[in-house]
Amino acid sequence: MTDPALPRRVVVTGATGKLGRAVVAHLRGVGVDVLAVDRVGGRDPRDVDGEFLLVDLTDYGQVVEAFTGGADEHAGGIDAVVHLAAVPAPGLMSNATTFANNSAATYNVFAAARAAGIRRVVWASSETVLGLPFDTPPPYAPVDEAYPPRPESTYSLNKVLEEEMARHFCRWDPELVMVGLRFSNVMDVEDYAPFPSFDADPTLRRWNLWGYIDARDGAQAVERALVHDQPGADVFIIANADTVMTRSSASLMAEVYPGVEIRKELGEHETLLSIDKARRVLGYEPRHSWRNHVPQT
Ligand SMILES: NC(=O)c1ccc[n+]([C@@H]2O[C@H](COP(=O)([O-])OP(=O)(O)OC[C@H]3O[C@@H](n4cnc5c(N)ncnc54)[C@H](O)[C@@H]3O)[C@@H](O)[C@H]2O)c1
Repeated sequence: MTDPALPRRVVVTGATGKLGRAVVAHLRGVGVDVLAVDRVGGRDPRDVDGEFLLVDLTDYGQVVEAFTGGADEHAGGIDAVVHLAAVPAPGLMSNATTFANNSAATYNVFAAARAAGIRRVVWASSETVLGLPFDTPPPYAPVDEAYPPRPESTYSLNKVLEEEMARHFCRWDPELVMVGLRFSNVMDVEDYAPFPSFDADPTLRRWNLWGYIDARDGAQAVERALVHDQPGADVFIIANADTVMTRSSASLMAEVYPGVEIRKELGEHETLLSIDKARRVLGYEPRHSWRNHVPQT
């Protein structure tokens, strides 16, 4: 059933990407009227089934048109924006290219939303701001949103600047609601096959404290963020409730990060990327686990 608090018409950027496809399908499934936007894709329904507009978000004019109904055949009346478009990791493109694309795209989305009178923006920040790849050990575990960001790459630096930018947009306009979701490593069901092999080497997935996010749970988090009604900017870690490992979370920390303070009694496979704040404030509760898709030894 459609949540009456959900915005009626929503732009999703990065709609043909890995997370974007799951988010568009999920939001349409709960009755949201989605205008899917990306710089890649076209009429082929395998790209993204339904209303789609080709936009390069680094061009402010194109973003304004997308948000205000200035593109033929696509109505305005946009109530919220879900901004997922980005070069999605360090090392895929040169640092300067990643920074130029991601910072311009996000500034344009934030500024055009404000200019169009759109009060609600949900966007993809990243787990990387927590200090990935944790060559420097985390300050404590599970890591949470309470310590200052520790970007270790240009990609991550830009995500930190986006979080800061959102705070100032909200200071300029106190009615804005801007929710940054610090997603863990996004996984589709097809990605789960190698998970049981991770146990052989605990350092293999150390870089993000053995976390992950099922794309469907990522989409659910976006839905929860879209009904968040606390004005201002806030950020939330979005991960699954468990790790990618068969070994216990406590044994992983003891072996790989023996000096790091463990701040709570850990469940057997409990995530070391805390989702307590997302649970408490957004009502996010992961529904999926790789353990339900792959046999474990
Ligand atoms: N994949 C992960 O593990 C992960 C983890 C944490 C955060 N994130 C963030 O989540 C978001 C989605 O990531 P993803 O894994 O779906 O990535 P993806 O590469 O699959 O999708 C990103 C999409 O953004 C589009 N895009 C990039 N620049 C654009 C521009 N200038 N104009 C229009 N479209 C543009 C691309 O064409 C692509 O379709 C990104 O912001 C990424 O930084 C991803």
